[in-house]
Amino acid sequence: MYLKQTVFIFLLAFSLSCVETQENNPLLVEPEEETAVDQVIRHKAAFNVGAAVTRNELNSASYANTLKTHYSQITAEYEMKMAHIWNGVNNYNWTNADALVKFAEDNDMEVHGHTLVWYKSFPNWFKNANYDSASFEGHVKTYIETVVGRYKGKIISWDVANEIFLDNGGLRSTDCPVFKTFKDPVAFYGRCYRYAREADPEAKLFYNDYNVVLAGGKRGAMRSMATRFKSEGYPLDGIGDQMHYMETTNRNTIKNGLADMALTGLLIHISELDIRINTGQSDNFVYSTTEQQKHANAYKEIVEAYEAIPQSQKFAISTWGLHDGSTWLTDWWHPKEYPLLFDDKFEKKLTYEGFLNGLK
Ligand code: XIL
Repeated sequence: MYLKQTVFIFLLAFSLSCVETQENNPLLVEPEEETAVDQVIRHKAAFNVGAAVTRNELNSASYANTLKTHYSQITAEYEMKMAHIWNGVNNYNWTNADALVKFAEDNDMEVHGHTLVWYKSFPNWFKNANYDSASFEGHVKTYIETVVGRYKGKIISWDVANEIFLDNGGLRSTDCPVFKTFKDPVAFYGRCYRYAREADPEAKLFYNDYNVVLAGGKRGAMRSMATRFKSEGYPLDGIGDQMHYMETTNRNTIKNGLADMALTGLLIHISELDIRINTGQSDNFVYSTTEQQKHANAYKEIVEAYEAIPQSQKFAISTWGLHDGSTWLTDWWHPKEYPLLFDDKFEKKLTYEGFLNGLK
């Protein structure tokens, strides 16, 4: 009897508190208008739609909301690169990488890891040590095991090696610590893929590069590497083209290049998509309606070209940034550049509609 009374009082108090909460909590108020699901790229796409992000920008509510509303995956623009994580042999800085992974977890998003071995991101302390090949590999092996192991089950895919080939298919030699150290750099990279696989057997392992659809020589080198990896037992699940192209880049070449990449049978990632519209790097450039429409059409045709590859090989399309107010291209290309799907006020651009309309 005493128990029944207690339960009754508890239930009464609970339901009263619910009424109270619903009336007073603004978070429970339904949004006035929901955008139809097929009007949102992350929902319409039958593959992940990613964006490169930085931890700092996630502090902005508009940034975070736009990101989680429209995208299903993130890539760290730089905070998971070696020079940002690896401060010394046994000295790792996880602060920003952890925060990005946590944001993705909290918001039902995936994380693509970028990148384990990139010639541009070996830390200075490592380069200055001038390791012989055995010590070099020993340290890099530990690095890969530590990073991939830490995010086992949390990061679904990794760019293990990034930009190791030139467009003509030769191996990159200038400023490349791996090339300087190993007689057979490709075999070293193969072992890096193996270390990553051992640290997280579920993670999909990618090779990532730029100009892949434009440069037949580079695609040939990637194909040969994939064949060699297969015959020598090194794992490789996918290849990525960064796709930093221009509105003027020939779309048939992009389409045929993607189809050719897909002949490898590997997963295909458009990994760093941004399309420059101020192609002449003009100080007087105006992003007029006509320019915006041309731009939107470029996005549409690139997404259509990706949709044309076999469904089972579509891994993701990731844009290199979220909004035009923060893009590497304003430093590296021209201050008047507007390459992404949102403007600097987080408003959807025509390029967003282009991307959306390119989806099946
Ligand atoms: C760029 C970032 O966008 C910059 O912020 C950073 O300073 C340098 O790297 N190819 C890649 C990316 O694989 O990692 C590069 O990102 C862009 C080119």
